Amino acid sequence: MSENQFTPRVFSGIQPSGDLHLGNYLGALKRFADAQEQGVQSIYCMVDLHAITVWQDPADLKKSTRELCAGFIAAGIDPEKSILINQSQVPEHAQLAWVFNCVARMGWMGRMTQWKDKAGKNAEAASLGLFAYPALMAADILIYHATHVPVGEDQKQHLELTRDIAAKFNHDYDVDFFPLVEPVIEGAATRVMSLRDGSKKMSKSDPSPASRINLTDDADTIAKKIRKAKTDPDALPSEADGLKDRPEARNLVNIYAALSDQTVDQVLAEVGGQQFGTFKPALADLAVAKMGPITAEMSRLMADEVEIDRILARGAEQAREITAPILKRTYEIIGMVGA
Ligand code: TYM
Repeated sequence: MSENQFTPRVFSGIQPSGDLHLGNYLGALKRFADAQEQGVQSIYCMVDLHAITVWQDPADLKKSTRELCAGFIAAGIDPEKSILINQSQVPEHAQLAWVFNCVARMGWMGRMTQWKDKAGKNAEAASLGLFAYPALMAADILIYHATHVPVGEDQKQHLELTRDIAAKFNHDYDVDFFPLVEPVIEGAATRVMSLRDGSKKMSKSDPSPASRINLTDDADTIAKKIRKAKTDPDALPSEADGLKDRPEARNLVNIYAALSDQTVDQVLAEVGGQQFGTFKPALADLAVAKMGPITAEMSRLMADEVEIDRILARGAEQAREITAPILKRTYEIIGMVGA
């Protein structure tokens, strides 16, 4: 029984748990802004309920949520064209997440690499929320019947789980109610690596600030971090094949390609043969030119908290027009009285 045509709809989210970095920008934010221009209805979310799966200082959480909202807008998300929301302000996310907690299996959750990484050796002490994290993520997406989810490479396994949860729900209740989402993992920078270690992804939780470029870094800091980025002694190759066993070099070229909207081959055609002494300053200039205006716009927006809160309140209202009927129908399918 097919209840829905599943019209294309984009959803994605970012945790408000600290500074946005270049990986978040190139792997997610920049691509959201590009997707918005393709005219598909898009919903972008600050996932504050996900952030508290590890303890957050309440004042910092508020600040980071508003900062992230400013970051979305500064990166090009227009609240008139896309729906911009904070997760806890749309209660249907958490309500559907409970249903999915009852659909997902413990074994599925236990296999998530992010759970294993984050819980580490002391899983007994991790929060139950951290374990259930991917079920809430599935609910974020499926409460909109979203079909396309642009993310970085590290979220791929969570999106596969989202498909498993949708398929199991549909199967258990003999419906075709939830769509099987398509991960959208495209471009040169779906996995931006640490500037200090080409085998580790750039991450908020890396203890070394030199490992990442934050969106709030000033021009000098950006230039310094790129100058100090780990590389090898060889010149840049003229073709992508030449980057195969050179993770640090590959990372910097990928970053250059994503920032300049080129392919890696186009970049190498231009810079092949250059030493890092020449390439790094060019990369730093490019990063400053692309990120500087975003940072400036973010701090301008942050000066008006009332306006940010107004945008989020309006986004929540728009979102609930979509989420309330989908939750109601879910409850009807399950057999809840009153739905
Ligand atoms: P989060 O907050 O860790 O990251 C937000 C987005 O940035 C991408 N990203 C990267 N991309 C390239 N290189 C990197 N080094 C890098 N680091 C982060 C992430 O892939 C992501 O797209 N669980 C999600 C948030 C979430 C979500 C959702 C996403 C909650 N519900 C529903 C999509 C749909 C997370 O923690 O992302």
